[in-house]
Amino acid sequence: MTKLAVNIDHIATIREARQTNEPDPLDAATLVELAGGDGITIHLRGDRRHIKDRDLHLLCQMVKTKINLEMAATDEMVQIVLKERPDMVTLVPERADEVTTEGGLDVVSHSLDLKPVIETLRQAGIRVSIFVDPIPEQMREAKKIEADSVEINTGKYAETKDEEKVRVEYEKIRDCAQIARRLGLRVLAGHGLTYRNVKLISDIPEIEELNIGHNIIARAALVGLEQAVREMKALMR
Ligand code: PXP
Repeated sequence: MTKLAVNIDHIATIREARQTNEPDPLDAATLVELAGGDGITIHLRGDRRHIKDRDLHLLCQMVKTKINLEMAATDEMVQIVLKERPDMVTLVPERADEVTTEGGLDVVSHSLDLKPVIETLRQAGIRVSIFVDPIPEQMREAKKIEADSVEINTGKYAETKDEEKVRVEYEKIRDCAQIARRLGLRVLAGHGLTYRNVKLISDIPEIEELNIGHNIIARAALVGLEQAVREMKALMR
């Protein structure tokens, strides 16, 4: 069965909307694990807009499944990883003014910079994945620079409405999953996946794990709202 790692950045985003201490991503991680989630994913961004160093530090100690840290391949992040030791990292491109990760890392153009980063992390016993667009050359280059796995970007598949184009994007993901697996890479996927579009992707046999954030947290806010209102009313009675 395909594994599900839940990205809990949005919990930290709600916390930061008031710069307070709740909701706490640590509590969210516990609930994800109790519900059967197979891993916790967080993105420690250079600007620390949601997840903070404290969150990473404590999550690395308390998460029982697996911590996947998304990060830019910078010296600062490598030093943090060597200290905190998450189970795995996913290298992503990062732009200061982006709302979310906008596309895969271009491994072909950046292989010279990425290779030593991957070497350092793997020597420290940390598995390294790279977030890549579904392009065969990116799979081959990820293998060349000795990544353990690739996370195939499903963003374009997810945002496309036209049925024919959805099919085209799906086939790119499926073909790249097969190529990556044949190369000996582990295959993950994610970005933009929802309750409506997940099934086609989770049915691709080569894909071991999905990273899903926004749509799960968005649904949690709605399905949890009724109970939250009832609890407040009960206290006011
Ligand atoms: N994978 C990567 C590399 C991401 O950057 C993100 C978003 O943080 C996700 C998966 C999850 O995407 P979404 O929040 O759209 O489910």
